Amino acid sequence: MTQPPSYYPFIRDMLMDRSGLVVTPEKVYLLETRLLPVAHHYGFKDIGEMISELKSRHNESLAVAVTEAMNTHESLFFRDITPFSLFKDILLPEILERRKNQKKFRIWCAACSSGQEPYSIAMVLNEVSERLVGWQPEIIATDISNSVLARAAEGRYSQFEMQRGLPVAKLIKHFTQENECWRINSNIRDMVQFSQLNLLDHKYSLGDFDIIFCRNVLIYFDLATKTKVMSKMNKCLVDDGVLFLGSSESTIGITKDFWPVKAGHGVYKHTDGLPSLAEP
Ligand SMILES: C[S@@+](CC[C@H](N)C(=O)[O-])C[C@H]1O[C@@H](n2cnc3c(N)ncnc32)[C@H](O)[C@@H]1O
Repeated sequence: MTQPPSYYPFIRDMLMDRSGLVVTPEKVYLLETRLLPVAHHYGFKDIGEMISELKSRHNESLAVAVTEAMNTHESLFFRDITPFSLFKDILLPEILERRKNQKKFRIWCAACSSGQEPYSIAMVLNEVSERLVGWQPEIIATDISNSVLARAAEGRYSQFEMQRGLPVAKLIKHFTQENECWRINSNIRDMVQFSQLNLLDHKYSLGDFDIIFCRNVLIYFDLATKTKVMSKMNKCLVDDGVLFLGSSESTIGITKDFWPVKAGHGVYKHTDGLPSLAEP
């Protein structure tokens, strides 16, 4: 194991305070690879000099750049596929039935990174658009990082990003080629509202949601942070709402507010909610 550098305790605490990211001593090798480019970009000769600057005075843009460089923004269209087929085949018909009087439902994609996840949800809704005539579905997508949100709102993806999980038929239907890149068409782009939100914030002021996708972000947090985030999610998910976690995430040992449902791995409902979705 690489010996932690002298600046390790400072950077570990800073990342924990700002985004909840846990950098254990086993992960210190990531500091070098991810932070050296930031140090050079800001004109420092090495990471140590950059950390001295952060220690000596408040430099928000540098602190943001360091936090963004250490966070993982990996995402892909229709990641793990099953959540999206469950959403389309099981949850949506349920929601359309349960909300038939209001004709409204709200989906929150927390930690949306560069937009592949909320746009995958929007593409699913587009596929059933004839059943949504007169409905007002809302997709709110948030992330801590303004730079990934800017990319997401732009909706422009490289050839490499397009090849990861996106079926060709959807590429042809929903994207337009622009030089080396592909841009998501405006009818899908306009279905998603992006805004900045740190899951560590004291309170989320986004209103209530019928479905929350919070995938592949809890894995970076420690137990105390996961517990706090889940408690806040619990408050903004309606009683018969459903929560999707990532394929390697679960609520075990974190909260008893949610219960897994038989429909699939990583799908949770409120402990006393939604009797129609059977428990395992
Ligand atoms: C690995 S990506 C997951 C993207 C997407 N949900 C998926 O599963 O493909 C994790 C995202 O979580 C965001 N993130 C990390 N800490 C966060 C926090 N405290 N609040 C909000 N977003 C955070 C990162 O900026 C990053 O874009």
